Order: sequence, then C-alpha cells, then structure tokens
Amino acid sequence: MTQEKLLELLGDMSLQEKIDQLLQLNENFYTGNEQEVATGPARDMGITEEDVKCAGSILGSYGAKKTKKIQDDYMAKQPHHIPMLFMMDVIHGMKTIFPAPIAQGAAFDPNIAKMACDIAAREAAVTGLHCTFSPMVDLVRDARWGRVVESTGEDPYLNSLYAKASVEGFQGESGDLTEKFKIASCVKHFAGYGAAEAGRDYNTVEMSRPAFREYYLKSYKAGIDAKAALVMTSFNTVEGVPASANKWLMRDILRKEMGFDGVLISDYAAIEETIYHGVSEDKREAAKKCIEAGVDIDMMSNCYAANLKKLVEDGEIDEKLIDEGALRVLELKNKLGLFENPYKDADEKLEKTMILSEPHRIAAREAAARTFVLLKNDKDDSGFSVLPLREEKKTAFIGPFVDSKDIMSSWAVTGDVSSCVSVGQAARENFGKKVLFAKGCEILGDDVHVPSFMGEVHYPQTEEEKEKLFAEAVELAKTVENVVLFLGEDTSQTGEAASRGFLDIPEVQSELLKRVHAVNKNIAVVLFTGRPLDLREVSKLSRSILVVWRPGTEGGHAIVDVLTGKRGPCGKLPMSFPYCVGQEPIHYDRLATGRFAEPGTKEKFKSRYIDMPTEPLYPFGFGLTYTDITMSEVKLDRNEMTKDGKITATVTLKNIGDVVGVETLQLYIKDVKASIARPMRQLKGFEKVELMPGNAREIGFEITADKLSFVDGDGNEVLEKGDFEVYVGFDSTTENKASFVLK
Ligand code: NOJ
Repeated sequence: MTQEKLLELLGDMSLQEKIDQLLQLNENFYTGNEQEVATGPARDMGITEEDVKCAGSILGSYGAKKTKKIQDDYMAKQPHHIPMLFMMDVIHGMKTIFPAPIAQGAAFDPNIAKMACDIAAREAAVTGLHCTFSPMVDLVRDARWGRVVESTGEDPYLNSLYAKASVEGFQGESGDLTEKFKIASCVKHFAGYGAAEAGRDYNTVEMSRPAFREYYLKSYKAGIDAKAALVMTSFNTVEGVPASANKWLMRDILRKEMGFDGVLISDYAAIEETIYHGVSEDKREAAKKCIEAGVDIDMMSNCYAANLKKLVEDGEIDEKLIDEGALRVLELKNKLGLFENPYKDADEKLEKTMILSEPHRIAAREAAARTFVLLKNDKDDSGFSVLPLREEKKTAFIGPFVDSKDIMSSWAVTGDVSSCVSVGQAARENFGKKVLFAKGCEILGDDVHVPSFMGEVHYPQTEEEKEKLFAEAVELAKTVENVVLFLGEDTSQTGEAASRGFLDIPEVQSELLKRVHAVNKNIAVVLFTGRPLDLREVSKLSRSILVVWRPGTEGGHAIVDVLTGKRGPCGKLPMSFPYCVGQEPIHYDRLATGRFAEPGTKEKFKSRYIDMPTEPLYPFGFGLTYTDITMSEVKLDRNEMTKDGKITATVTLKNIGDVVGVETLQLYIKDVKASIARPMRQLKGFEKVELMPGNAREIGFEITADKLSFVDGDGNEVLEKGDFEVYVGFDSTTENKASFVLK
C-alpha cells in the first residue's frame, strides 16, 4: 500500500478505532467464545467488545492454522478489514532452541547470533508470527539479576555487535520485512533495565548521564541503526521517571537523537504501572503521560483504550498524538506486507518440515559448542588433564543434568523440552556402554537458598531417597579413573523475576560434589548456568570446569562433541564470574579511582575489601582451549598519531600444543587522562584465531580515532589528546601492553 493510501485509511478511521490500533491483547481474547471473552478476560481488564474487535496486535499466539483463523475472524469484524499483528517472545529460537543469549555472547562471535536469529525467524514466520520481542540488549553487570541470561553480557562494544547481528538475523540486512521468512525485531528494554539496583528485577535504576550514555545506550543505538522495526520500553525509572512516561528519554533521546521512527511498545502493563511508581494518579493520567512521551502500543493494559478518546474530547491531548501512533502501527503492518498478505508466511506444511529440521539442529549444535567456556583444566603429574576425555580412561558421567532435557531457558517459551537432546542420550550414542552413569541427586533439593522463596519444592525427596542417589554416585566414582559431574542452576533459577541473593549451585549438588571428591579427585565439572556463579568451591574440588550455560535443543550433542575433543572449547566469559556475591555488581571496565588497589595488596586505605579479593574469580574475556597458545609482546608501528591517523598493534600467536585451538585475541584501550574519569580499560576489538599445532600467525588491530573517543553526559563524541595504553591478550586482565600519544 502506498503511503498516500495509508493516510487515506487513517483519515477514514474513527478516533476509537485508531486508539485500538494502539492496544495489544493476548490470545485469550480471540480463542474463547465471544461470551466467555466478554465475561472473562475483557471484563477483568476493562476492555470493551469494540476494543477486542479493533485491537491492533495480539501477544503470544502462534501456529499457522490457529493464527490464520484468528486473522480471518478478526479482519471480518474490523471495520476497515485491517489485519492484526502477531507478536511474541522468540528469544533464542522458536522450536529449535539455540544457546541462551548470555551463551551466545560467550562465543565472541556475533555471526552465531545472526544465524540463530535467522533460523528463529524462519521457524516463527511459518507459525504465523510477524514480530519478536527480541533482542534484549540491556547491558548487565550484576549476576544477581535473573535476566542476565537474556543478555550478551557486561560490555557495550560486544553487546552492540550482537544487537546489530540479531536484528539483521531476524529482519535481514536490507530491512525489507516483506522478504520471505523475515520477522520484525524489537530492541528492548529501553532503557537501562539491566542496571536495576541490587540486581532485583523491576527495581529502580540510578546512574549518571555519562555512564548511561557511554555504557548503556550504545547497544540500543546499534539495534536501531540496524533498522529494528520496534523498540520496547523498560519497567524501570530513568532519572526518577518510569521509562514509559519519560518524555526526555523517548522523545529527545530515542526519537530525536537516535533517529528511531518505528513502533514504540510498552512492556507488559508498564503504562498502568506508572501509577504504582507514583507518577500517575490513575489510568487516565498514565495514558496521557505515556502517549505524550511517544509510546505507541499499550501492551496488556486498558489505559489507552479506555482513556485516550476522553482525553482528546476534553481537550487534554491533541488527536495528532493518536494519529502519530496509529500511523506507525499501520506502517509496520504495511512494511510486513500484511495488507496484501495478512498471513505473511504462516504455512501448515512448512511448519512440519522446517521446524526442528536437520539443518536447524546441526546449526544449533554447532552454535552451542562454540559458546562453551573452559575455566579450568589442570594437568596431573604425568601432564594429563581430565578434558578432553580419552578412550583408554574409564569415565563416569554423574549428576542431575546427565539425563535432564530441561536445558533451554525460562524464556524459551515456544520450545519443547521433549525435543532436547540430553547429555546422557548423546553420550550413549557416542560411547555405547563405555561410559557409566549415575544421577547423584536431583537438581534442587531442600535448599535453604531457593525453593522456600519460589513457593514450591521442585523435587520432593525423603532422606533415604537422597542418600541412595548419593551412595550410587559415590560407589560408581570409586570404580573409575575420571568423573564428569554435570551440575548447575535449575531453569527456574534464571530469567524474568528470578533474581538471586546467593550465587552458588544448589546445596544438594554441592554435597554431591564433596562426596564424590572424597573418593575420586579427577573431576571435571560441566556447569549449566544462566548467570555467573560463585565457583570457589567448584573450583577447589575439581580439576576442570566447562561452562555450558543453557545450551538449547542440541545441548547434549554439543557437550559430548567438546568433552571428547571433537571440537575444542573456544568461548570467553561475556560477564565476570565474581569471587563471591559481595562483589556484585562487578565489571572489568570500571572507572579508575584515587585509591587503586593492586591485586593482592594488603595496604589499608585502598579501594578494596578487607575480607575478600577485589578481583573476580574468573574475569571478563577469560576462557581456555585444549591447546597451549603463546603470544608475543604487543608492538605498535608508531607511538604517536593524529586524529585522522592510525596505529597498528601487532602480536604473533603460536600454537605450541599438540591439538588445534581457537583463541580469541582481544584488544583493550585505556585513556590515561581525560576531562572525566575513564575506565581502567575498554574492549575495542577482538579476533578469533584458529591455529593448527606448530602454526603461528601475526594478528594486527588497527587503532583509529573512533576507538579513542568517548561520549559525554550531553551525548557529544569527545576526542582528547594525550596518552593511551593498548592491551592485547587472551582476557581482560592481560598486561601485554604498549603506549602511544594522540597529538
Ligand atoms: C515482559 C518482559 O519484560 C518482556 O521482555 C516481554 O517481551 C514481555 N513481557 C512480553 O512477553
């Protein structure tokens, strides 16, 4: 449809009809019979029959047959036969579930995200979905926050690359949403949601403008520059005003500064929640504030639907505000080609052949293997480590995750646990009878730190049952040379509304670890987790640790691939793993202080703790390989540059081990002195380098002015002369450095 025709259509719509384009309801309003809807969901939410007939979009409905029927029924009743938009959270896969976003971040390879989102878009499109609420690009620094599993970590540079790649994966690089199997992408949660105080979900955010701009806003901007069709508001306040009602944030920053002209949707009932934040008196005021702030769609509250008409009639808001929002929604429908083809790619046949197809599973397996991070792999006296496993060593696979298929994440709402491959299944395929198994314990026991707060005990067990599982595991561990222990967080311990005050593995698993360790010291721990954990004990009692995150549908296969050395581990931590929870929030790119404490110092008046280290247990960017790769000193081709010039930093890597390895070489830069305090160092580049045994390669990073500038509190890009330090290495603590001057 041409823009002219779209405007004509808008001009022909009644005020309430336009307002209803701004309403999003869930599928309950469309799948029950009309009577039930009127007396059930609609009554409960204060929604009229007319609103249901005209709501512009639907949340959480998929399945080709069902969505086509809903679309047909809806369009028949909608006064202008305007199609409705089908939206849903497709976060790390539709049915073929890829590793969770935090794991994808660990790959240090945005192409993984692009591929995962491309496949997710295909599978979602054939089920009739038009739009996904993804990617979540919120910067995170506090492992207590449950939603770190949905993010790609603590670094703005890395997050921005992933934001771009994910949007391009869902929408395609051209941004042409009529393309087959492409869906609209929604960057969320604008803005700063990841900085909730004390890591408690939905909590207040307080920060300085320079920090907001320099760290937090960049990844949203990257998603918008990649042409994301939608942005979602966040639940938190920004400078005291809830994001959805924050005019400065939405009109000045998002629309004007960032140039976003797509659809701005509120998070679930976030418009109504401005009342509970204490900035709106009632739903009417909430609607007024949020429409004035420029929020187009009201997700699952009736604030807009029940109040905007009256606000216009009473002269409190201009109808133009409604037109602006309704037009954007119509434009999105038009960009997706829905006026010509309201089902878009919904296709019952393709649903059967494409979803969970072999190529999709292969891609998910490949992706998962590349996200695993080897944190520890100590050698014994004869120079052998537990990993990779060797055929001649008798090995036992023990732990509650051996046969668990629940290895996606709490946001893989469209995925099916039953289609996941467990480690046990993959190991039986691979080793036949050579590997021995024991469960050891349930994922959650009667842990003090978990179930009581979750309101339910997940795995009710008697003491005898518990002891029996422990005893079987211990007996087995006595008979083998190596034990691989599969431990970690339960799915319910991460995700939305799953903030934690303790960052340890469940107590019952820690007990299993101790008991197995008492009879066999050759332990490799494979850790399932959606967040950084306190690994002091795990690290003390094991010789190897492989973090496999929430690996998704093909997790079991990918894990066995890496355990056997068919593929080497090559992930790096996208978030610091703290020494203990008291360090949170912790991130490598912290500001310098006036009292810097050298690691391990005992000096008193320094910026440190008296009862624990200042440094994390495993730093950002850290991860080992199965081989040994050496690195030469970093060399700069010059030690001065001007703002239009460039410097190349070079190192040579050599694989001196006896297997192939993939290292992730990282470039960090420190601005030694500037007009505002600068981070100790910041990631400015990285490269994945594959080396065969004995091979060497020279790698160069180009340093140009854009890697040296920063954003001030007013949003200006500032470049200041002076000294800079360049660090090149295998993680964020590298001391391989050189200096230069920007003239
Ligand atoms: C609330 C979550 O915060 C958001 O991320 C999600 O997209 C919506 N619910 C819709 O499911």
